[in-house]
Amino acid sequence: MLPVYDKPTIQYVVEEAVASGIEDIIIVTGRHKRSIEDHFDKYYELEYNLQKAGKDRDLREIRKITDLADICYVRQKEQNGLGAAIKCGERHLGDEPFAVLLGDSITKGPTPCTKQLIDVYNKYNASAISLEAVPQEKVERYGILSESEVENDIYKISELVEKPPMDKAPSNLAIMGRYVLTPDIFDKIIETEPRVGGEIQLTDAFKSLIQYTESHLKVKPMTSQTDLNGLRHQSSLPLMTRSSGMIWWSI
Ligand code: G1P
Repeated sequence: MLPVYDKPTIQYVVEEAVASGIEDIIIVTGRHKRSIEDHFDKYYELEYNLQKAGKDRDLREIRKITDLADICYVRQKEQNGLGAAIKCGERHLGDEPFAVLLGDSITKGPTPCTKQLIDVYNKYNASAISLEAVPQEKVERYGILSESEVENDIYKISELVEKPPMDKAPSNLAIMGRYVLTPDIFDKIIETEPRVGGEIQLTDAFKSLIQYTESHLKVKPMTSQTDLNGLRHQSSLPLMTRSSGMIWWSI
């Protein structure tokens, strides 16, 4: 697990979900990722030793991690793109909107990025994704889109393309690692052919969803984001979150 300062990236991401009002979390994981499950699990031996040593502050910190949220894990058997990874969680999500947070990027700002997207969803009753302007020479690393502004910082998507070459990119606005999606995305993922990298891309599924819903998707830029640049491909685990009895959608 990749640490940033004193905790692993995935913990920041789970904390963002929780701070956005999300209570049930599905982490899509895979081979050699057991350390994630262990990290959020109870660690009896450590708790015992900290208690014995009188390290109450450390003990509280350790317990805080365990109590963060209800987390369950779905294992993706082979890496086949973000679209395919998200599909792994379908059976556990039910027929509700859900958020997707990619485990390799962390965000910061007064209002958590995922919460901003939930607010956009609630206002427009449409899927929402976060975006950020990136330098032109980096567009080929991201899903890129073009848009028209609906209101301050909220845009309607008109075109989407996954990792375009610099000269074919419709803009320099990149999809960042936060989405609020509606379950109709799953039908589109099934219809999506593998494309960039031979993988089933969420961006392509979105593209057909836009056509189907007549451009109903809205996007909102996050306040600031730390993309772990060269390292981002090492741990691009999607973290899926769902409501518990619609609780977080009523925020
Ligand atoms: C994925 C998405 C891409 C998005 C990026 C954000 O790419 O497919 O559209 O811009 O995450 O981090 P990946 O990083 O898995 O290649």
